[in-house]
Amino acid sequence: MNNLTMREKFKEIFSREGEIFFFAPGRVNLIGEHTDYNGGHVLPCAIGAGTYALAAPREDGRLRLFSLNYPEGPMVDADTRELRPDKKYGWACYPLGVAAVLKLRGHSVSGADILFWGDLPEGAGLSSSASIEILTAIILKTFSHLDLTGPELAAVGQATENDFIGVHSGIMDQFIVACGQAGQALLLNCETLAYEYVPLYLGQAALIIIDSGKRRGLADSKYNQRRAECQAALAAINSGAKKAFTFLGEISPEEFELYAPLIEDEILMKRARHVIDENRRTLEAAKALAYGELADFGRLMCASHASLRDDYEVTGPELDALVEIAQNHPAALGARMTGAGFGGCAVAFVRSAAEMEDFRRKVADEYLARTGYTAAFYPVTASEGARPIEPELMEAL
Ligand code: GLA
Repeated sequence: MNNLTMREKFKEIFSREGEIFFFAPGRVNLIGEHTDYNGGHVLPCAIGAGTYALAAPREDGRLRLFSLNYPEGPMVDADTRELRPDKKYGWACYPLGVAAVLKLRGHSVSGADILFWGDLPEGAGLSSSASIEILTAIILKTFSHLDLTGPELAAVGQATENDFIGVHSGIMDQFIVACGQAGQALLLNCETLAYEYVPLYLGQAALIIIDSGKRRGLADSKYNQRRAECQAALAAINSGAKKAFTFLGEISPEEFELYAPLIEDEILMKRARHVIDENRRTLEAAKALAYGELADFGRLMCASHASLRDDYEVTGPELDALVEIAQNHPAALGARMTGAGFGGCAVAFVRSAAEMEDFRRKVADEYLARTGYTAAFYPVTASEGARPIEPELMEAL
């Protein structure tokens, strides 16, 4: 898709000229999985693929939305004064939900005509939903002259997901989509929202996303179930601990050793153990990355996958096969599933870019032979968060 086609389509659909181009990236989480809603740490980066929009403000308070990813339409036409982000709107629930949350938070929201187009595979775990949420938030912020920071936009996106979509997700995806920086990963403490950028100095090495081709099934309900299991594990610990913890992520590995016997249920024990271990791994991984200790970083990625497979149980046979095949390639420093799991994508760390071709070919062949699924590969370039863009950038990104 180029900017001229976007302009033509905009005119065709809305009978006027589009004014400003915007972009919001997707994200890949390098490590720190299922820790965000437990008040732990995460280490994602924004990627080059994402969602684009061409938009123009409206004076009459109407929000008219069209996505070129659903070319059969229809155009959604809603009134910002009475927003009902009903399930019947399908993909448009995300932008409508964002407008509704902004209003609920007391902001006056301008109308707009918005044409969307995205190049993120849906349901692959690369945050196509956070991307469209934060994209809409930044468009409405611009047109309504709202004074909102990146972290505040992220909170609006998360509330949309929680209150209008019904997924009780944490804040990681929206945060990195809003606050990503080129060439950097972001270490976020999801309890305090304190964050720092960690430069992705990879030297000869390269990161690659591998889509398993297996779409997430029942992901939302299983996700909410994991969240509830973590709450139950926390309650068990708090029933006997000297002080009450607000999140599992607050509990140090030493404290966990002390309090773990309070969790009698074996499943809840495994869920909590993943969160405590993953939180520690994430802090170690951020350090390893900052010091250029890439082999250590790769080992932590492998340990993260094992924990998500055995303790958190969110991988599934396809992701397990894909990650195992990737890890066994001689050029691999590490590989793991990324995102919510239950299908979707893995991320792999390859020793040298020169070996990437061989890595891709061998992984794709063996994965197809073992599972019948075709893997797709996306190189990771850590990119900047959501923003207005020059039209020409549509082709460049
Ligand atoms: C999804 C959620 C995030 C996070 C990850 C798992 O991407 O949206 O908040 O919980 O799963 O780490």
